[in-house]
Amino acid sequence: MKGKVCVFGSFNLDITAFLDRFPMPGESLVAKSSKISAGGKGANQATAALKAGANVHYIGKIGEDDFGYFARRHLKEVGFNAVTILSSNERATGNALIYVAGESAENMISVDPGTNMIVTEEEIKKCEPAIKCADVVLVQLENNIAAIEQVINIAKNNNAFTILNPAPFQPVSDELLSKVDLLTPNETETYLLTGQKITDKESAKRAADYLHQKGVKKIIITMGAKGSLLSDQATKTWIPCFPANPVDTTGAGDAFNGALAAQIANGQDIKQAALFSSAFAAVSVEYIGAACMTTYQQAIERMHKLSGN
Ligand code: RIB
Ligand code: NA
Repeated sequence: MKGKVCVFGSFNLDITAFLDRFPMPGESLVAKSSKISAGGKGANQATAALKAGANVHYIGKIGEDDFGYFARRHLKEVGFNAVTILSSNERATGNALIYVAGESAENMISVDPGTNMIVTEEEIKKCEPAIKCADVVLVQLENNIAAIEQVINIAKNNNAFTILNPAPFQPVSDELLSKVDLLTPNETETYLLTGQKITDKESAKRAADYLHQKGVKKIIITMGAKGSLLSDQATKTWIPCFPANPVDTTGAGDAFNGALAAQIANGQDIKQAALFSSAFAAVSVEYIGAACMTTYQQAIERMHKLSGN
């Protein structure tokens, strides 16, 4: 049976321009191409968890506008096992303006989170059954913090495994951190959470220990092409970054987090889960768009490529 993952998180409509290089302030640049696609860290991570083999319930909030229609159609098409779409006309559906440029297909993103930031206490209360029956509950920081805290509290009271991907960064309380089973910051987010600059493996290890002291049980600090540090209190393991031919790196972190949630829900141990998710994220950058297209099989093949089996 598939493990159950409940993802509470953002939906955004992504408008991406593909360029030879990033524009300078005041400059107009002609794009090579552009694309309107589904995004938002929550929806992206939920999609990745589904593709990586979990039973997924996605919870998100959209506006009653054209982008909201787009969201409804998209979320139906993904094929989640269950979706809870909250909505409001008080703000617009979230959107992200994205530039992708250069040989490594790096991205620059500005987000207007809109309705993602106005999820109410009553709305989360109504989602309690979905959160309660999950093996793994996955959240990010692209929603109002009160709603995120409420979701984590419900999850913890029901002994679910909780994953917090602290992106995009906003301050979080020590109380919230103490309820997180797995925290997955990148280098910048680690710095913002700990005040420690991450320059190498040693500084990453020190930052991980600092976060363990706050009560976080497991930590994966993702360091881009350098790989990532998995810290399980006493043991620290280096997880490699797998080779890829990138066309769009947007959502690589989301692919990683969604795959992690799926692997953990399916009973995989944390090191294997991190390796698989690293390979899964590597494949994801070879597709345009942030909503994950990677398949389970592709990730397995990429893992074997590096180990040479
Ligand atoms: O992580 C990538 C995502 O960040 C994009 O899909 C965009 O919507 C922003 O939320
Ligand atoms: Na992609």
